[in-house]
Amino acid sequence: MTYSPRDDRYDRMTYNRCGATGLKLPAISLGLWHNFGHDTPHATKQAICRTAFDHGITHFDLANNYGPPAGSAEEAFGELLKTDFRLHRDELIVSSKAGYHMWNGPYGEWGSRKYLIASCDQSLKRMGLEYVDIFYSHRFDPDTPLEETMGALDHIVRSGRAQYVGISSYNSQRTREAHAILKDLGTPLVIHQPSYNILNRWVETDGLKDTLKELGVGSIAFIPLAQGILTKKYLNGIPAGSRATQDKSLDPSVVEKAIGSVKKLNEMAEARGQTLAQMALAWVLRGGGITSALIGASSAAQVEDCAGAIRNLDFTPDELARIDAISEEKDINLWAKSSSD
Ligand SMILES: NC(=O)c1ccc[n+]([C@@H]2O[C@H](COP(=O)([O-])OP(=O)(O)OC[C@H]3O[C@@H](n4cnc5c(N)ncnc54)[C@H](OP(=O)(O)O)[C@@H]3O)[C@@H](O)[C@H]2O)c1
Repeated sequence: MTYSPRDDRYDRMTYNRCGATGLKLPAISLGLWHNFGHDTPHATKQAICRTAFDHGITHFDLANNYGPPAGSAEEAFGELLKTDFRLHRDELIVSSKAGYHMWNGPYGEWGSRKYLIASCDQSLKRMGLEYVDIFYSHRFDPDTPLEETMGALDHIVRSGRAQYVGISSYNSQRTREAHAILKDLGTPLVIHQPSYNILNRWVETDGLKDTLKELGVGSIAFIPLAQGILTKKYLNGIPAGSRATQDKSLDPSVVEKAIGSVKKLNEMAEARGQTLAQMALAWVLRGGGITSALIGASSAAQVEDCAGAIRNLDFTPDELARIDAISEEKDINLWAKSSSD
């Protein structure tokens, strides 16, 4: 059936300025890391993306390696761009990244100019796009000069392959260096994509959050729901089909370790009249320190629930203090290696 997006979609979302730039992003963005590979039916992917856009979620985040198999999420999104969003390209912010393993040999991962430019071309082809809105260096490469990685990003913008560039999981010091190099090249660093949620606060302890504010760089927090741990999903055990049962990125032992804290958070969310997912997203966005919370979803209903977070983003000092105490109990940062390099 032909898709016509809701006319009131832009009244259903708030849009935040990405640092000191001209770009605005929705408070909630959608990532296609999981649930967009060959193991998920096309109808589910379509329903998730349509529901997102109907709620004013204009930003879709991809990477070369999202699937499985790697590349298939970009292909699936490319198909939806053709069938559902063809008339809406200028209403969308589509991002992709390169940094993790994509193909064999010395040119298929990390941060060389050779890899980044070739991978960007492959991503554009898979999605059927002339350009992406944001292209990221997915992780810091300790063996490639940062000037080379940032030079490749600059070239990607100047050659028309991307409108803006970003970095992901770089620590505060590396971010300062990347920002300075890009500034000299004349292509500003527009956005940083770090992991951040109630159970993983490395962006605060590392100083990254303050650094981004000081530099006027925007931020989009990935895994804001700790891969589903910060929702009601695991309150009564690990349900069949959930991410923790899929032998992918979420080990069941991590869920079990966190669940005592999650139950306390759920009581707080109920008292606020929100679902736990909504409270976890509101917390990431609190005080305007983060431009957008980048969720994943396995159903349209989850997108709808998450989009509702923007109805209450305020916390009392007492609520914040209680969350601080709970988050000190656990720390789950699966991307610690990349951000500590
Ligand atoms: N830059 C990087 O290195 C990096 C790394 C990882 C992710 N990312 C980006 O961040 C995006 C989000 O990552 P993520 O999927 O791990 O984020 P997340 O939002 O923390 O977790 C998403 C999962 O939580 C569950 N969920 C979502 N909404 C729910 C709701 N309302 N009620 C109950 N359960 C709900 C679903 O789990 P089930 O599937 O079990 O239903 C869903 O798949 C990715 O798609 C990607 O774009 C970037």
